[in-house]
Amino acid sequence: MKHEDQVAMVRRVIAHVEDGTTTYAEANHRNPVSVYTCPDRFRREQETIFRKWPLLVGLSGLVGKPGDYATEDLAGIPLLLTRDRDGRVRAFANICRHRGARLVEGCGHANRLVCPYHAWTYGLDGALKGVPSGKDFDAVDKAGHGLKELHAVEKYGLIFVQPEGEPVDIDEAMGGLQRDIEDYGFESFHPYRHATIRREMNWKLSPETFMEAYHFETLHRNTVAPIFFPNLMPFDAFGRNSRLIVPRKRILELKDRPSPSGT
Ligand code: FES
Repeated sequence: MKHEDQVAMVRRVIAHVEDGTTTYAEANHRNPVSVYTCPDRFRREQETIFRKWPLLVGLSGLVGKPGDYATEDLAGIPLLLTRDRDGRVRAFANICRHRGARLVEGCGHANRLVCPYHAWTYGLDGALKGVPSGKDFDAVDKAGHGLKELHAVEKYGLIFVQPEGEPVDIDEAMGGLQRDIEDYGFESFHPYRHATIRREMNWKLSPETFMEAYHFETLHRNTVAPIFFPNLMPFDAFGRNSRLIVPRKRILELKDRPSPSGT
């Protein structure tokens, strides 16, 4: 976040503390249970949010060096990410073009990607490079049987993949949030550990749990509640994105401190 934005946010938080307020919606919103249970709504969410919109699949460091590859399965289709010889991040369906076997597992570093089923071999650019018993496949157009490539963009140290549809411009998708994002310097970040936690629930329940601090005083009264203000979360929308700030009580130490830039 830019320094001037930080200063403005500190002032905004202190004003909320002094007024005993938070960011409010224009009106109460009743959320029907069907939002979480309707199969048709879920199908449409999959089609639009997870297939035809840029998905943030990870940090650039996920495939930091040419030759690195990584897999991702949370988008509903098996994704394969590579960084090719030219340093470009590419995304493919992690599906062999011979008989559809899953091409690679996990992550690693390789010159070629070899299918574990019959050993068809692909380059990091997705091109089909080798077919065992090749003369038996003379009739197969090798150039037309590379991996299915998906639209991928690397920007702000992040990797986005859009599996289907007309590619959406990343900055347009961010809706202004990139002003904050670019200051994190994600280009220098390295993944430390990868973990997948699977739960039997609608996908929205997990992120929504983290979108309010109202429960801190009861559910987390002996852990995080002493650190944060109860139910104070400045909110801003950036197109389809949102930013929630969960301020620590220590922010009040800044109340009478002049800003170094004089803002
Ligand atoms: S399915 Fe991959 S080589 Fe046969």
